[in-house]
Amino acid sequence: MYPKQKNNTKTVCFLPLLVSFLVIGCKDSKEKINIEKGQELFTSVGCATCHSLSGDKLYGPSLNSILGTKTKVIRNDKEYSFIIDKNYIKKSIIDPDYEKPILFKSNKMPKPSLTNFEVDCITNYLLSINNTSKE
Ligand code: HEC
Repeated sequence: MYPKQKNNTKTVCFLPLLVSFLVIGCKDSKEKINIEKGQELFTSVGCATCHSLSGDKLYGPSLNSILGTKTKVIRNDKEYSFIIDKNYIKKSIIDPDYEKPILFKSNKMPKPSLTNFEVDCITNYLLSINNTSKE
């Protein structure tokens, strides 16, 4: 290995370049898979039976234009008002009973059994349709 010093220098220069291309490449394709996978999961896991993406209220709130809107929730019997952000959406999926929108306080969302990755996919998907619906 050591006698081939010239080749080694080449590899040393080339490697960081290769690694950074790989990292950038993976990041891009992973984000894409996230949204597509999230869209798939939204239907296959059953979210769509309770949540429309058209603005219609079903058993649960419509989810296509909630990002950035004001909401009122109940948490531990107290009312809180705030603007819906990514964290709220994610938390609502992971732990539906943590806080409930007042308008839907008597309806119950079952806690879905999803991996962290799946929750991220669905959250990203919901964010993507929330962003486009505002344009
Ligand atoms: C059985 C019906 C039902 C199913 C299935 C269901 N939800 Fe819900 N969801 C609700 C109800 C009811 C609420 C409001 C009350 C609450 O938070 O418990 C809610 C609240 C939410 C909220 C917060 C919305 C807001 O405006 O505050 C999000 C986000 C959400 N659900 C996403 C999902 C996702 C993603 C899935 C699928 C993994 C899912 N839900 C499955 C009924 C359901």
